[in-house]
Amino acid sequence: MRTLFQKIFLSFWLAMVLVSGTLIYSVVTTQSQFTLSRSEQSDRTLIPIVAARAADILDDHGMGALADYLTSLQTTLNWEAFLFDDEGKEILSQPTPAEADALAQRGLEASDTKFLVSHGIKYVARRTTGSTGTRYVFVIGTKVESVANVLRAPLGIQILRGAAILFIAGLVCFWLARYITAPIRHLRTATHRLAMGNLSARVGGHDAGRKDELADLSRDFDHMAEQIESLLKSQHRLISDISHELRSPLTRLCVASGLARRHAGPEFSSALDRIDLESRRLNHLIGSLLELARLESGAEILESRSVELESLVREVAADADYEAQSRNRRVRLVSADRCTITGNAELVRAATENVIRNAVSHTEEGTQVDVELQHAPNSQGGDAVIRVRDHGKGVPEASLADIFLPFYRVGDARERSAGGSGLGLSITDRAVRLHGGSVKAENCADGGLVVELKFPLTANETPTAKEAIPVSSGV
Ligand SMILES: Nc1ncnc2c1ncn2[C@@H]1O[C@H](COP(=O)(O)OP(=O)(O)OP(=O)(O)O)[C@@H](O)[C@H]1O
Ligand SMILES: [Mg+2]
Repeated sequence: MRTLFQKIFLSFWLAMVLVSGTLIYSVVTTQSQFTLSRSEQSDRTLIPIVAARAADILDDHGMGALADYLTSLQTTLNWEAFLFDDEGKEILSQPTPAEADALAQRGLEASDTKFLVSHGIKYVARRTTGSTGTRYVFVIGTKVESVANVLRAPLGIQILRGAAILFIAGLVCFWLARYITAPIRHLRTATHRLAMGNLSARVGGHDAGRKDELADLSRDFDHMAEQIESLLKSQHRLISDISHELRSPLTRLCVASGLARRHAGPEFSSALDRIDLESRRLNHLIGSLLELARLESGAEILESRSVELESLVREVAADADYEAQSRNRRVRLVSADRCTITGNAELVRAATENVIRNAVSHTEEGTQVDVELQHAPNSQGGDAVIRVRDHGKGVPEASLADIFLPFYRVGDARERSAGGSGLGLSITDRAVRLHGGSVKAENCADGGLVVELKFPLTANETPTAKEAIPVSSGV
């Protein structure tokens, strides 16, 4: 039993079946007891009269008349009646049940009416005296009417009744379980969407009509999401505003440095080169910050189109290979399945480029970066997986998740003068998540890092045969 729905449904169902069973059982047992005590009261009045009548008939008219009388009792009242003499012998020598014999003995010794219930038959005995003064015991046996008789139906009907109880109980429990778990399901969907970076995720009006604790929880969640969204938005707005404000003085700095270069002598050229380098870095940093802020706002993904990943990855790898060759490294597209996703091609391109650029920077000189695009089927239709593997030092295990955080750089990258801003992988992470995908990094057993970008495929995307690119062709 995995889901709360199943647990609630099955436990309610079981409880309902048990309660119905117990109810039927208790009604059957107590009802027969109740009917019995009620009939005993009338028997105490009726039986002495009938007993006296039977004894009189025997004394006045003989055995034949008694036999007729007892038969009439059988046909009219459904009583099996017997008359015993004071030695406990049945007058008409009829075959008598053992219970009737035993009760006759008890009846002889007592002046009141005696009862015995055995195998669904109620026996009543009463001592009486005939018109000649002879003592007799009158005994009758009659079926006990009970609710249990209702249950003694043919097997087919019993099964039908059981199935009807199970079905109706199942229907009620199904509705109950759905009613209880619906807000939890809505809450879970909203939480999942929020965790995936969709700050506008809310439970909303799903449970508007409800007034219980679960509805309160949904409202609290919406309130919390509202607060988080407004906090993060103001933070992003601040970063974006600062970056914009920095752009203009930086542009002016570049213009001033150009002018200074024109008039300054060669002794200043190295200082001016440094100013240009730092300006370029600042420009790159501001560009990345603005890009990140735009991604965080989520507006970018609104321009969703069909993106052919195969050609996109091929192009990015080819460009990166061109740049890498000048640094004595190579980028190779190992294999590429045909995959189509829905999203923003520029974002996907930027995400892939960032990862490949990192790989080129960190792979050892003379080695190559392997890029792979794979169609990975799953229960939801499948994913497009872009895998980039380098042959460098990799990343310490403890930092594997942190490298996707803004400004995070692993020790030596931070110290390196040529180190980047530490925003590339954050941009990649946000871009992929905006497409409903995920990113992860792992160290390879034989050295190097492999970064995996996973994008959900467009719904009607069908798997096609792999189109492997020959290794020798480079990209
Ligand atoms: N392939 C890799 N091998 C080893 N370390 C890596 C690799 N890719 C990323 N890193 C580490 O992760 C850190 C974060 O990478 P990220 O791309 O976010 O920033 P950056 O490359 O330093 O700067 P930017 O991409 O903004 O120019 C890097 O500084 C580096 O320490
Ligand atoms: Mg980078």
